[in-house]
Amino acid sequence: MTPQDIDAVCGLVYDLCGIALDSSKDYLIESRLADLVKREGCANYVEFAVRARSASAELKRDVINAITTRETLFFRDKSPFEALMFKAIPELVDEKSNVAYDRRIRIWSAACSTGQEPYSIAMTLMETLPDYRNWNISILATDISDDAIERASRGFYPPMETSRGLEARYMNKYFTPQDGGHRIRDEVRSLVSFEKVNLLQSFAHLGRFDIVFCRNAIIYFNAEDRKRTYLNLANQLTDNGYLFVGSSESLMDLGPRFQPQHHCKSVFYQPNRQLPDFILANKVGQTATTAGLR
Ligand SMILES: C[S@@+](CC[C@H](N)C(=O)[O-])C[C@H]1O[C@@H](n2cnc3c(N)ncnc32)[C@H](O)[C@@H]1O
Repeated sequence: MTPQDIDAVCGLVYDLCGIALDSSKDYLIESRLADLVKREGCANYVEFAVRARSASAELKRDVINAITTRETLFFRDKSPFEALMFKAIPELVDEKSNVAYDRRIRIWSAACSTGQEPYSIAMTLMETLPDYRNWNISILATDISDDAIERASRGFYPPMETSRGLEARYMNKYFTPQDGGHRIRDEVRSLVSFEKVNLLQSFAHLGRFDIVFCRNAIIYFNAEDRKRTYLNLANQLTDNGYLFVGSSESLMDLGPRFQPQHHCKSVFYQPNRQLPDFILANKVGQTATTAGLR
């Protein structure tokens, strides 16, 4: 790839999904986009990028499906799901049990990839809360990739995927064998709904959530988009909400908006309630800058 090819493709990918690539990723770009460039009959990546920008939604969708890293597994890293089971859910249940109406728990798996994360959350909830049917539980699972959402929504997993992270007891309890693989049971599937959401566009319309999982997606964003997205996520959390991020992601540089909580060998973040109202009223970016933070 020439420097012009790399610039053109990196610009295209950034504009479509916010993933920050550069020349150090030329091998990855080629391995993921070469087939599309060939299919479109383009002489080079510059021509391809121009075409994709002016093309129908379909080609843009194909670029997003091809370039996104969708690596995931059931109960990824284990410890966040233990913190969910032993800390977050019991606290939420305790907090909401006295409410006479609408005993509701809303969870968002932002960047859910092919569904292993939201289904792991659902299974954890069902294990932790045996009377979950008496609660109004909803898990919204979103991703930018149509392909990922389609697969997640189907809830069918071949042996290679169920063998990663899924204990036999969960497989037996929450899946049924089908066509040489396993399908998630209806009672788990019915807790989860799927929607396409680009984390770099406004998601305020989704409302507030008690728990947000946003793991291993923002890691691909540039520093500015990363910070903006986390602060936007903070606004979607209820006052006592819980934000789970990937094991290699930390929010410690983001200023006072998030309070880290360490439980079950995991870290999650809660909105900092000690902040003055003017900061909570969405002037956090300004505050962080004033404090000399990235
Ligand atoms: C590595 S997977 C992480 C899946 C899961 N959260 C986990 O930790 O196992 C990253 C996901 O982020 C999605 N993604 C990338 N850019 C995105 C964006 N701008 N908005 C929403 N999702 C995005 C990708 O499509 C991919 O499914």
